[in-house]
Amino acid sequence: MPQFAPVTPDVVAELEEIVGAKYVIHSEPDLSVYGRDETEDLQYAAEVAVRPDATDQVARIMKLAHDRGICVTPRGAGTGLSGGALPVFGGIVLCVDRMNRILELDEDNLVVRVQPGVITGVLQDTVAEKGLYYPPDPASHGSCMIGGNIAENAGGPHCVKYGLTKDYVLSLEAVMPNGDVFRTGGKLKKDVAGYNLTQLLVGSEGTLAVVTEATLRLIPMPTVKRTILAPFDSLDTAAKGIVAVYQSRIIPAALELVEKAALEAAEEHLGRKVPYGDAEAQILLELDGYDEEAVDRDLMRAGEVLLEAGALDAMLADTPAKTTELWTVRKCLGEAVKKQAAYIECDTAVPPDKVPDLLRGVRKVAAEYGIQQISYGHAGDGNIHVNVLTDSPDLEERERQLRPAVKAILQVSVDLGGTITGEHGVGCAQSRYLHMCRDDIALAAMRSIKDAFDPKGILNPGKVLPAEVPPPVAAGSVAQA
Ligand code: LAC
Ligand code: ZN
Repeated sequence: MPQFAPVTPDVVAELEEIVGAKYVIHSEPDLSVYGRDETEDLQYAAEVAVRPDATDQVARIMKLAHDRGICVTPRGAGTGLSGGALPVFGGIVLCVDRMNRILELDEDNLVVRVQPGVITGVLQDTVAEKGLYYPPDPASHGSCMIGGNIAENAGGPHCVKYGLTKDYVLSLEAVMPNGDVFRTGGKLKKDVAGYNLTQLLVGSEGTLAVVTEATLRLIPMPTVKRTILAPFDSLDTAAKGIVAVYQSRIIPAALELVEKAALEAAEEHLGRKVPYGDAEAQILLELDGYDEEAVDRDLMRAGEVLLEAGALDAMLADTPAKTTELWTVRKCLGEAVKKQAAYIECDTAVPPDKVPDLLRGVRKVAAEYGIQQISYGHAGDGNIHVNVLTDSPDLEERERQLRPAVKAILQVSVDLGGTITGEHGVGCAQSRYLHMCRDDIALAAMRSIKDAFDPKGILNPGKVLPAEVPPPVAAGSVAQA
């Protein structure tokens, strides 16, 4: 395991000098917040957390850490699901939450320049006031931050039509692990000057550089939106319904699949019944566009396709309140499942036509290992979140019970031409599985890239590339989540 220098009182004093004492957190209980994110209930021990509010402060923090050999874990809102923001080796947590300014909204070029601590939902609401749309919408969009979204190349339900975070990042400003600041481009639609550092940083999970500013592409806000809920009496039929939608050449703005156990978790979490909560599975399909007639024509067709595929109903959410209710149910699932029991999540993703095989494979594994699983997700992207559950809060016992099933489920995904993580990232939670979907040559190339940016290995160590990391200092009880 790598060794890093400790955070000594004089380092804390220097950090205080850089950002002001108020923004350096070095004692409990406040510090423990920076030792966890939304990955299961894992808790690590940061030595200090620091909250800069400008690029030059980030640069000075990185230079200090680099000179001293202290590791740094960048952090946004801490909503990540693969441990990207967990300070697994202690050290400094560099939280960008105070860098939360929208620097420029350029309506002539349809771009926005933002600092990394801008909350995704705030960005979306701000640009919506000008009739513009920033589509990537992870379930946590009300609290997650653009910096974290860029680090993880975050997705969400609307990727199926509009693409992921990467499809909206035009250029970045970032700080190297040694404190050097660089920019990767401008407000350009076309720019092929050299290696694409912008896209290398997107999805690099804070292991190569700290993003301090992003120039993002926007599109005109669709003026028409329609949402259909289709219940099914079997998960298999619903999964085949996803394929039928593709075959019909309709382009959904969202195409989500939820199985019954997830609906039950949602009912418990929300404390009320949800529409068609007793169905074995549901498809949530959204269509949008700029021409009401065209969208409604596709809507009729989508309803027919779903009914032909075996849906028991194709219920149109015909008021904004009903649409909000359907999305509230869908978007609460992560939290709802978290409350159920201790769990490990498999962020499977396969070609969309393989979703029926994936779900069958997952159920087979669960039966073989005698474990409970709950599946839901962005079936239109082939991206299904499979949570395997146990009643045991004890970390070792949990590992013993669930780990073999997790591996088997990811193997099902990989064998179907899929991956070990569709949108949640590798972090430290999935790095042990990276070799299942990337060959040795590709892994070696990734290592070379990491070494080129961060020869001392101080930036977010223990993430993405397979590495031994210390065990968490605690894994709380089920209720802690
Ligand atoms: C979702 C999160 C868990 O899709 O990715 O709800
Ligand atoms: Zn998701």
